[in-house]
Amino acid sequence: MRGAPILEGVPPAAIHPSILSADFGDLAGELARLAAAGAEMAHVDVMDNHFVPNLTLGLPVVQRLAALDSIPLDCHLMIADPDRWAPGYAEAGAASVTFHVEAASAPVRLARELRANGARAAVAISPATPVSAVQHLLGEVDMVLVMTVEPGFGGQAFLDLTLPKVADLRARAERDGLDLQVQVDGGVSGDTIERAASAGADVFVAGSAVFGADDTGAAVSALRRAGSAAAASRSTPRR
Ligand code: DX5
Ligand code: ZN
Repeated sequence: MRGAPILEGVPPAAIHPSILSADFGDLAGELARLAAAGAEMAHVDVMDNHFVPNLTLGLPVVQRLAALDSIPLDCHLMIADPDRWAPGYAEAGAASVTFHVEAASAPVRLARELRANGARAAVAISPATPVSAVQHLLGEVDMVLVMTVEPGFGGQAFLDLTLPKVADLRARAERDGLDLQVQVDGGVSGDTIERAASAGADVFVAGSAVFGADDTGAAVSALRRAGSAAAASRSTPRR
């Protein structure tokens, strides 16, 4: 199999546009736009001005957006004390809830609580955090988010130095037979998505690349095509 293109059994790249770059005055309309564009989920960046130096939105807004039921929500919590706050996002109806391992006190317990509340559980690592910080969690989560920029702001340049962590996670998942998604977030564009997919990422967050495009649907499709093609030509089979 090594070296052969893997087409069968490789799911298409999932595209999760980040509403950090959306019109905050019309989030309901923006979610409808993403659903119409065929995005798998909408990525919701929750920032508390403690874990990151920026402030966005919180639980009441997510509760309202989830109730609209227009597209599944992938909530990325860049907040202090996720042990206390993250389960509320699962209860609110988020399809997936991601907490940062750097901020969590009891990550195993938290991941189990998220799943018990009906959400997919995910853990994020910032650029300086090694894979070893989450290796004990790989059997407890549905996804690992490898930040490809420093968390806090949209529109930053993709950090290639994070790609070995993506490859490491994909290799561990394959070796241990884990059904684990690897998500990349930050600076993902038509230029960078192929490198991330080749390394082993299969879920792609894109803020400026989607909301900065004239045609949202075309932007989502182009990213999915590029990501899927690169994933399919990875030399290592997925499972
Ligand atoms: C950054 C956020 C990202 C951001 C991505 O802290 O987690 O989701 O919105 O934006 P782009 O795609 O513009 O880098
Ligand atoms: Zn994010």
